[in-house]
Amino acid sequence: MAIYDPSKRPSDAYDTHTHLNEDEFLEDVPAYWARAREYRIMEMNVVGYNHIGNARAVEMAHELEGVHAIVGFQPEDVREFNEQELAILRDQLNDDKVVGLGEMGLDYHWDENPSVEVQKAAFGAQLDLARETNKPVTVHSRDAFDDVYEMLKAHHVEEFGGVMHSFTGGPEEVQRFLDLGMYIGFSGMVTFKKSDDIKAALQVVPLDRIVVETDAPFLAPTPMRGKMNEPMFTHYTLENMAEQLGMSYNELAQITTENAHRLWLER
Ligand code: NI
Repeated sequence: MAIYDPSKRPSDAYDTHTHLNEDEFLEDVPAYWARAREYRIMEMNVVGYNHIGNARAVEMAHELEGVHAIVGFQPEDVREFNEQELAILRDQLNDDKVVGLGEMGLDYHWDENPSVEVQKAAFGAQLDLARETNKPVTVHSRDAFDDVYEMLKAHHVEEFGGVMHSFTGGPEEVQRFLDLGMYIGFSGMVTFKKSDDIKAALQVVPLDRIVVETDAPFLAPTPMRGKMNEPMFTHYTLENMAEQLGMSYNELAQITTENAHRLWLER
């Protein structure tokens, strides 16, 4: 992989999914934000996952330039989700700094997660809210592509749009979500040696549907794999993806930033 050279004046990039609202970052959020900007990662979506994570995301979006908030309940936290929390989400969506709903979805990987019924009810309620407010959704799917697809389709995601975040499937799976009008978010996983499926999926996604993300503090890209991820590392993933696609870092940074603007900001 080519070594990143800041003197090349890289194009601005957008980390479309990061969790500066996680405990790992809290002591030093402005420092992580500033470090990202040194590498021209000029915008990021701080993505919520439960009551506290959502509140922190909204606060950060008000405090830091280029930061946008996304609010929602992720599968593992939907036991806390109820009518009152739904009303809070609806309220938060009135805030200009809140650009979407998520993360939300289905996760069948962990036995200790809430039941399928509980997960589907919370996912469905959030999809309905997205349709009502015309906000794009950030979708988490683990070991659940078939059910996630059926729910997105049944809830008319093509009307309000969204992203399959940190996509982990192959070309056939990705095609189904593209057919629903979804964008595809690629995380550091696309840089891993053994991610043949994800690399093959990247090759079939139209350029105007690709966005990049860190999902920090998780899933640090090569060559930082195993370290704590942070928004600055977006540049490693972008560089690796650009190489896979046979284009320059700057071209892909521009394209993915435009895509993110179209999905979350220019609606
Ligand atoms: Ni996430």
